[in-house]
Amino acid sequence: MSNITVWFIRSAMVYFLLAIILGLYMSVAGPLYPWMQIHVHFNLLGWISMMIYGVGYHILPRFSGKQLWNDKLSYWQLWLANIGLVGMAIGWWVRNASNDSAVLLIFSLVETLSIVFFVLNMMLTIKAAPAPMPAPPRPPAPPVKK
Ligand code: HEM
Ligand code: HEM
Repeated sequence: MSNITVWFIRSAMVYFLLAIILGLYMSVAGPLYPWMQIHVHFNLLGWISMMIYGVGYHILPRFSGKQLWNDKLSYWQLWLANIGLVGMAIGWWVRNASNDSAVLLIFSLVETLSIVFFVLNMMLTIKAAPAPMPAPPRPPAPPVKK
């Protein structure tokens, strides 16, 4: 497995654990703001999306029979996805404390950029992938004895 896949899967596991701890807390305390939003996005952008990014970087180039279009872009995406998500969590916390949405907006844009980088890299990797090899002809069936 490449480093990018390993680091996305590690990140996904960490967000999963954090999200579940928040979920357990809310099972007792109720769907509190901002913990509910942080729980949801640690689960959906952290656990689920990062697992998909990690697995996607591993299998989509192989399915396409091509190299990943741009390795550097994938590392930028890893950093931006993590910085964006942690920043969004801080942003919800700041908005809750001071009603100011600026931090949330800035890190939401960072997270969005990471998504754009993933989509771009994958679209250009799977573009014009070679057609699968045709299946070899089947041998003729043996004659039926009467
Ligand atoms: C041990 C595991 C989990 C626990 C204890 C837990 C707990 C909770 C609790 C208490 C709420 C607030 C619900 C309410 O009272 O209205 C909530 C909301 C939510 N959880 Fe979890 N959760 C868990 C795992 C997950 C996972 C794995 C996902 C997604 C992959 C997820 C996605 C959501 C979403 C989307 C909401 C928001 C629902 C809404 O908008 O009303 N949760 N969770
Ligand atoms: C750049 C990516 C994303 C940004 C910036 C973003 C931002 C937001 C914001 C600002 C809210 C409103 C929360 C509030 O009440 O203050 C929200 C809610 C929500 N988002 Fe996202 N989101 C993103 C991606 C996603 C993805 C990929 C999913 C699902 C796969 C998702 C699922 C949800 C859900 C379920 C809610 C409702 C949560 C609740 O019940 O409070 N979001 N999102």
